Amino acid sequence: MRAWRVVSDRGIEALEMSDVPEETLGTHDVRVRMRSASLNYRDLGVASGGYYRNNRRPVIALSDGAGEVVEVGNQVTRWRMGDRVCPIFVRDWLEGPPNDAVLETCLGGGIDGVLAEQRVLPESALVRIPSHLDYEEAATLPCAAVTAWHALFVSGNLQPGQTVLVLGTGGVSIFSLQLARQAGARVIVTSASDAKLERAKQLGADATINYSAHPDWHLAVRELTEGTGVDHVVEVGGPGTLERSLKAARVGGAVHLIGVLDTPTAKIGPLSAVFNCQRIQGIYVGSRAMFEDMNRALETNRVHPVIDSVFPFDEAREAYRALASQQHLGKIVLRIS
Ligand SMILES: NC(=O)c1ccc[n+]([C@@H]2O[C@H](COP(=O)([O-])OP(=O)(O)OC[C@H]3O[C@@H](n4cnc5c(N)ncnc54)[C@H](OP(=O)(O)O)[C@@H]3O)[C@@H](O)[C@H]2O)c1
Repeated sequence: MRAWRVVSDRGIEALEMSDVPEETLGTHDVRVRMRSASLNYRDLGVASGGYYRNNRRPVIALSDGAGEVVEVGNQVTRWRMGDRVCPIFVRDWLEGPPNDAVLETCLGGGIDGVLAEQRVLPESALVRIPSHLDYEEAATLPCAAVTAWHALFVSGNLQPGQTVLVLGTGGVSIFSLQLARQAGARVIVTSASDAKLERAKQLGADATINYSAHPDWHLAVRELTEGTGVDHVVEVGGPGTLERSLKAARVGGAVHLIGVLDTPTAKIGPLSAVFNCQRIQGIYVGSRAMFEDMNRALETNRVHPVIDSVFPFDEAREAYRALASQQHLGKIVLRIS
């Protein structure tokens, strides 16, 4: 069986295609023929090493994929041959809060991932693909979409009529835009690119700000909210943007802390959170239960993920390079079979 593995810490050069032995099937396991996979910013970090809890070497790359059940163990009850499934991001996080041991089981980092022709996983570690999505669309869901769902609806308890600020137009941010609009929220999107902001408007953004042209973008957010600030910030920038995100949030608002895209070593002045009773909540992807709840919402509302580009299996390194260039909007996908 062919698989792309991260074999060192040399970034994209650490990715190698290998022939690996087929995994044996336990009584509660399912063999999935992988059809598609998708990339997340995290995958660049995994390949460069030093990524929290994700340093196993060699490790089959990528957390996010979709495929078809081709074999089931003799005690399996949840799945049948031919079922269309996605592995969950954290293999052992089924519901409720996680713990350290559970968070060691992240696909494509702590344990083997999905960029392989087949994977064997416990039957508990899969969810059914929404019926309106194809494999390429479904492969975008396990990390970016579940993270956006967790932030907005589990941690955030987003209500219709509230305002959400989304930073940039990557995977998590575009899912946040789509999910928040479906829930009846107003959405403000920032980007360094006017062309991407135009596309964000087509996807439902109510207002947009170019953060390169307006380095003090938090002031523009306050203007767009009559001086009040937003109810929620989907914070993917990290230390480089957090202080402005707090200034863009209303008194009592929530900043969902998700990623570090900008200046990891920047100094943060967190006092705005104190004086304005704001909540800063760290978000790490989500559980199987969150994934299943999200899939019901996607299916009911016929939401289709936004795919930027699709690469063949053999061109995994090119797909990583495309992600690193940050020219994409939404998700970059690999077609496996
Ligand atoms: N905690 C979790 O569970 C979790 C889950 C998923 C992702 N993450 C993290 O969240 C972040 C985003 O991940 P992703 O996979 O969605 O990334 P991605 O698809 O690679 O998106 C990158 C985009 O972020 C935007 N960006 C870069 N610097 C920015 C800045 N200073 N301000 C605003 N936007 C900026 C750019 O959009 P424009 O070109 O439009 O400016 C860029 O294209 C990463 O740090 C990732 O590790 C965390």
